[in-house]
Amino acid sequence: MTARVIDGKEVAEDVVATVKQATAELKAKTGTVPGIAVVIVGEDPASQVYVRSKGKKASDCGFHSETFELPAETSEADLLARVEALNADPAIHGILVQLPLPRHIDEDKVVQAIAPEKDVDGFHYINVGKLGTGAIAEAFVPCTPAGSMVLIRRALGTGDLSGLTAVVVGRSNIVGKPMANLLLAANATVTIAHSRTRDLPALCRTADILVAAVGRPEMIAGDWVKPGACVIDVGINRIDAPEKGEGKTRLVGDVAYAGAAEIAGSITPVPGGVGPMTIAMLMANTLASACRAAGVEPPSY
Ligand code: GUN
Repeated sequence: MTARVIDGKEVAEDVVATVKQATAELKAKTGTVPGIAVVIVGEDPASQVYVRSKGKKASDCGFHSETFELPAETSEADLLARVEALNADPAIHGILVQLPLPRHIDEDKVVQAIAPEKDVDGFHYINVGKLGTGAIAEAFVPCTPAGSMVLIRRALGTGDLSGLTAVVVGRSNIVGKPMANLLLAANATVTIAHSRTRDLPALCRTADILVAAVGRPEMIAGDWVKPGACVIDVGINRIDAPEKGEGKTRLVGDVAYAGAAEIAGSITPVPGGVGPMTIAMLMANTLASACRAAGVEPPSY
């Protein structure tokens, strides 16, 4: 069997098209323009690229977008004051503080200072708690697992995962744990695996839905995949590619793609799978925040 390739770029474009349309309708009906503020501290080039692409996508969607590029030596107090000002700004519906922050700033203190109703990253304890208790419609769900869930729903043609087993490899707060909660809320039978799990290959072979979010290049071998499974590869790892020439690199996922694609029913590629969904869901969360503020039902995806 050769797996169907799940085209994350195409799905992300579809989500963004829905966001654009709903944004225009929200503006016309209520005068509300969704507003997003992205804050970055320091000059990490990869983070700067992410932040600029978020700002550009927000403008594409018709949002009001503000980017704050603060110097690396910004104090924690100044950053907290910036967050407080954005919390109080009615033109801003979503606040994202790009992580990681410089070491002299307490990351958790900053994340928990963001008003939960503007926490479009879904990292605030209030949103984590809502997701964990099944109050998903009023929560903000972290963008990468939210996007992975859209891909799973579309690949399987249903949002009801009753009777299916799901294994999530990785237990991070940003991906693994929220992913497991989303799958559970969709009625899957969920196991979270991690570095201390015994016989990971055998466990993965039980999974109708296998989500890999460990950040280890091609760790999940093809023969760990259950025939016909839906494989979602969240990993984005840059590795050396001497075959492309000296000093060249390439991106690979956490799944050894070629082998897995021979066995899976559907699989996300890297790049072009989960990656493009993350920014798309950030736009969807920001629109949802603006819709909630205006008392309008947000779209579903
Ligand atoms: N850094 C890497 N991924 C993310 C993300 O999803 N949100 C934030 N705020 N920072 C990140």
